[in-house]
Amino acid sequence: GKKTEQASASAGAASTPAASAAKEYVVGTDATYAPFEFQNDKKEIVGFDIDVLSAVAAKAGFKVKFVNTPWEGIFSTLQQGDRDILTSAITITDERKQSMDFSDPYFEARQLIAVAKGVSDIKTFQDLKAKKVAVQTGTTGDDVVKKLLGKTSSNIKRFESMPLALKELESGGVQAAVGDNGVVINYVKNNPQNGISVVADDKSFSAEFYGFAVKKGNKELLAKINSGLKAIKADGTYDSIYAKYFGA
Ligand code: ARG
Repeated sequence: GKKTEQASASAGAASTPAASAAKEYVVGTDATYAPFEFQNDKKEIVGFDIDVLSAVAAKAGFKVKFVNTPWEGIFSTLQQGDRDILTSAITITDERKQSMDFSDPYFEARQLIAVAKGVSDIKTFQDLKAKKVAVQTGTTGDDVVKKLLGKTSSNIKRFESMPLALKELESGGVQAAVGDNGVVINYVKNNPQNGISVVADDKSFSAEFYGFAVKKGNKELLAKINSGLKAIKADGTYDSIYAKYFGA
């Protein structure tokens, strides 16, 4: 009958654009976090996370558009629907899992302490007990330092980005900065003149795993991300991106 024809005609029309044009998702990222996400000289957003998620999207058949988004408040952009995916070297934690969903892990990290060069009284995390410490607000670095020094300790100096926390260390406002190892190492390596170094061989910290975050309940998008991730791990794409940023 007529009704059935109409129904199938409109269903056909609706499926045509989906088939011809891949869906584009808006990705929030705090691009102050080299080598994971940062802006190059041309102000383009680049980095390990950007390459990995772009490769995931290419495999899984969707498009991504990266939008620079301050770390503070980044999680609420999922809730509000302003961003579909977050990639920001985000550690998967039980607390965060209550309010958003995470992909399978794509990177292992841990915290690392930076100090002024030549400092000898800071060898492990415990040595920060009576020190002033800089962190990026609301990160897992902030969490561990809070546990050691107490939530409201005035010795914790919080900054909106990790480079600002490390600059505070350089200018002597704090005795240490705590943040994700990859980012701290990258910063120290690229600013050798600034007189800071990392505390090597400190076994104080446990492993953290980065994941891509989506709005809680967005199972369809999560499944696409996870299938793309699986595929780029299987075909060597992930390994070559890893080698590009961290060496073989
Ligand atoms: N991995 C840490 C966390 O999840 C720090 C991430 C900060 N990322 C950034 N792009 N600023 O808390």
